[in-house]
Amino acid sequence: MAPREPASSVSPIPWAAALLLAVGMKRVLALPEICTQCPGAVQNTSSVAAYCEKTTSKIMQARCCLNQNGTILGLDLQNCSLKDPGPGFLQASTAVIIDLQANPLRDGLTDTFRGFTKLQTLILPQNVTCPGGISAWENIAFFTDKQICQEQKDLCNSTGGPETCPENGSCESEGPGLLQCVCADGFHGYKCMRQGSFSLLKFFGILGSTTLAISILLWGTQRRKAKAS
Ligand SMILES: *[C@@H]1O[C@H](CO)[C@@H](O)[C@H](O)[C@H]1NC(C)=O
Ligand SMILES: *[C@@H]1O[C@H](CO)[C@@H](O)[C@H](O)[C@H]1NC(C)=O
Ligand SMILES: *[C@@H]1O[C@H](CO)[C@@H](O)[C@H](O)[C@H]1NC(C)=O
Ligand SMILES: *[C@@H]1O[C@H](CO)[C@@H](O)[C@H](O)[C@H]1NC(C)=O
Ligand SMILES: *[C@@H]1O[C@H](CO)[C@@H](O)[C@H](O)[C@H]1NC(C)=O
Ligand SMILES: *[C@@H]1O[C@H](CO)[C@@H](O)[C@H](O)[C@H]1NC(C)=O
Repeated sequence: MAPREPASSVSPIPWAAALLLAVGMKRVLALPEICTQCPGAVQNTSSVAAYCEKTTSKIMQARCCLNQNGTILGLDLQNCSLKDPGPGFLQASTAVIIDLQANPLRDGLTDTFRGFTKLQTLILPQNVTCPGGISAWENIAFFTDKQICQEQKDLCNSTGGPETCPENGSCESEGPGLLQCVCADGFHGYKCMRQGSFSLLKFFGILGSTTLAISILLWGTQRRKAKAS
């Protein structure tokens, strides 16, 4: 018979160290999917990498520039054969700078950038228009192989912005070329004309008590069944 290894060969100290390491690593490993969607690291000429290097509190991880909280501030998906940025793209809605150059992108990106209110620099292939069109950006620069949409305009600030919202609603930017009207506190509904807060509490109240009633009923019947058998 082959000699068996003693079962207690694992000492607790390396185990604890490994556990600590794993917990520490989790922050690094829990990278948003969009950052690894495109294989490989960024090129050393990347504008996103350059932006990321400007302060020490930001780090480049795969294709993303993250702050200490793991929030995406920059995303470089250049030369990734992308026809569209994909459903995970919304993870990058906090980004200040995004590079999508050298991709066979389809036109009509306005909806893709809904919610990207922080975006200030967007690098695109030359044959794709900046989301929201020329009026959504302070400056658009054209180059032979790319274009750069710079400084997102706040539509709520430009003429016609505030007036587009009803009296008791306020205008909020929703990304390049997009805005929404948000009803003031205490108003809701069409054109924010309904007063009184929407009774979410009441709704959950009803739902909650219904759930409770069903639970009690089920508990009762199960108990009876258990007794009978
Ligand atoms: C980028 O890398 C290439 C080689 O891969 C090198 O020739 C070039 O100098 C680098 N550029 C910068 C700005 O580091
Ligand atoms: C990180 O998050 C905390 C709270 O969520 C916030 O107070 C802090 O400003 C954030 N730090 C950065 C660098 O965004
Ligand atoms: C894109 O990547 C391919 C390799 O995957 C490389 O040969 C090509 O030079 C790259 N193009 C640009 C514009 O970086
Ligand atoms: C832009 O050009 C690429 C090829 O260079 C093509 O695949 C892509 O469909 C074009 N996009 C638009 C919006 O014309
Ligand atoms: C919008 O207007 C507010 C105040 O009127 C100003 O503080 C803010 O900088 C403006 N934003 C832009 C993007 O122009
Ligand atoms: C907006 O609210 C004020 C009271 O705060 C009210 O007098 C007014 O009628 C409201 N306007 C609309 C369009 O509902």
